Amino acid sequence: MRHRLITIFGGTGFIGRHVVRRLAVRHARIRVVSRNWAVHGRDLQPMAAVGQIVGGPLDLSSEAALTEAFAGNYAVINLIGILYETRRQSFAEVQAALPGRIARAARAAGVPRLVQMSAIGADPASFSAYARSKAEGEQAVRAAFPEAVVIRPSIVVGPEDGFFNRFAALARLLPALPLIGGGRTRFQPVWVGDVAAAIVTALEREDARGQTYELGGPQVYSFEELMRYMLQVIGRKRLLMPLSFDLARLKARLLEWLPEPPLTRDQVELLKTDNVVAADARTLQELGITPTPIELVVPEYLARYRSRPAQRAARS
Ligand SMILES: NC(=O)c1ccc[n+]([C@@H]2O[C@H](COP(=O)([O-])OP(=O)(O)OC[C@H]3O[C@@H](n4cnc5c(N)ncnc54)[C@H](OP(=O)(O)O)[C@@H]3O)[C@@H](O)[C@H]2O)c1
Repeated sequence: MRHRLITIFGGTGFIGRHVVRRLAVRHARIRVVSRNWAVHGRDLQPMAAVGQIVGGPLDLSSEAALTEAFAGNYAVINLIGILYETRRQSFAEVQAALPGRIARAARAAGVPRLVQMSAIGADPASFSAYARSKAEGEQAVRAAFPEAVVIRPSIVVGPEDGFFNRFAALARLLPALPLIGGGRTRFQPVWVGDVAAAIVTALEREDARGQTYELGGPQVYSFEELMRYMLQVIGRKRLLMPLSFDLARLKARLLEWLPEPPLTRDQVELLKTDNVVAADARTLQELGITPTPIELVVPEYLARYRSRPAQRAARS
């Protein structure tokens, strides 16, 4: 990895920042492509004490511009993803077309390694447009670059995650939390540090070429179990209210009017399917990584949501 040039898309995001940090300590030369470099560059650049981090915008619609940017690269990592569509960005463009363009450009530039971030549940036949676009992205990448490594995590948890942080923040404000579909959907939350380690390891190992890995933590939980665990960690008692998928869809229809909707109808569709590592999948273990129990990391970063009595109890 030392002194090798690696271009990373989505390096400013939650998972991306952990990947950048790991590559930096390996003394890689990292090029982070971001639409908002002016904002994120300041956060990422201090990591350059060990690696070298440069960044900036790039015309993602131009395969020729991408090919030119990839000259001399050892690897390209694509972590770009969105949770909902807006007038300016669609799943079809961001999660299906763009990965194909990046893969074709990487092939044309002679880049040896490519990692594509997907998600458990990626399926061309899914009722969820998010999951269909992730599957189309995988197919487009495989068609252009068969040796690419595809990474499919379950929910990723860590200090800046969008899962526990979001529900803990809601629990601070609301007397009750909804259990969509009764809270029975199963998840296998995985620590962001393990996901970043998997991506970096996948770049290094010969036997990872062309493989798809599904990443999950050591344990499977229902959504209700995860909510109960989160409430126990922050020391707050809240009502957990079952909400049918149909009612959740109705609610989501209204919430979709918000600029950053907390729930969409597409996400309700996703919740109808368990989000766990398949029995026959290649996993963290095949990459030599022992998954970290979430109980070792979550209490640390949810501490700021604790009730006063829970804070006092933690201090004593
Ligand atoms: N977090 C999870 O639980 C989870 C689970 C399964 C799969 N994943 C996948 O993992 C990847 C990273 O997730 P994350 O949680 O780190 O996401 P995140 O924090 O939202 O970061 C997303 C990144 O994508 C970039 N991006 C978003 N829309 C873009 C667009 N239209 N054009 C160019 N860049 C765009 C952003 O870069 P700039 O704003 O700097 O341009 C940002 O760095 C995604 O592909 C996601 O689907 C995440």
